[in-house]
Amino acid sequence: MAKSETAKAALIVGASRGLGLGLAKELLDRGWRVTATVRSAPKSSELLAYHDRVTLDTVDINNPSMVDAFVERVKHEVFDVVFINAGIGGPPGKTAADVTPEEMTHLFMTNAISPVRLAYKLLPTVKLETGILAFMSSVLGSVERNTHGTAPLYSASKAALNQLTRGFVAELKEPITVLTLHPGWVKTDMGGPHAAIDVPTSVKGLADVLEAKAGSGVHEYLDYRGESIPW
Ligand SMILES: NC(=O)c1ccc[n+]([C@@H]2O[C@H](COP(=O)([O-])OP(=O)(O)OC[C@H]3O[C@@H](n4cnc5c(N)ncnc54)[C@H](OP(=O)(O)O)[C@@H]3O)[C@@H](O)[C@H]2O)c1
Repeated sequence: MAKSETAKAALIVGASRGLGLGLAKELLDRGWRVTATVRSAPKSSELLAYHDRVTLDTVDINNPSMVDAFVERVKHEVFDVVFINAGIGGPPGKTAADVTPEEMTHLFMTNAISPVRLAYKLLPTVKLETGILAFMSSVLGSVERNTHGTAPLYSASKAALNQLTRGFVAELKEPITVLTLHPGWVKTDMGGPHAAIDVPTSVKGLADVLEAKAGSGVHEYLDYRGESIPW
């Protein structure tokens, strides 16, 4: 498909692999234009096969000077979807009893603070009325659903992301849609080989949710099938 000004445009932050890469490919296959970020310039990327509809950029969401330079580069763009996907698992096997301050800081910066801080900076690039700002959360961040505190440190970081997002939404003056999304338990480096679904299944569902919710003006916590998750 030739580059078209009428094609929808998405920015996906954290698209080097896993769900971010999968979502970029899914949207490109649907005819979208995609700006996809990675942490360091790739020598090659599957996304380059999409030629003129893909732009690769670099940002580490925890690096303030990289974030500012990145925001400067995209500040005149108008995106139908800004999807902040980047995230990490908690330190394996650890709980509040033995996590170090450095591990906890890194986890909360990456999964909660940096995504929302970046969202504030990228807000001017989200198309008014029909634009969507999406955060990749997890059902494990649901205080109501995750009653056993599964993966407690990771869950706490996603619960923090959800609550910070609610604060962000409460301050919003722009008429946009904000989605807090759960991709399912997905076979990626993070989800592991025994996860319930594969990347194509998850990202097809996520893309359907994005297309269905454009212009709704809501802030909702949804899974990849569009089903509501209690906070
Ligand atoms: N897989 C699941 O079952 C599952 C379930 C619920 C929620 N999620 C969430 O879905 C998102 C994607 O997960 P995934 O399964 O695709 O994991 P993944 O395969 O480990 O990919 C994580 C992505 O985040 C990027 N990233 C990590 N730290 C970053 C930083 N500081 N700045 C910029 N990018 C950074 C990684 O880039 P590098 O390649 O440079 O490391 C990579 O592109 C995460 O937010 C995760 O919490 C996943």
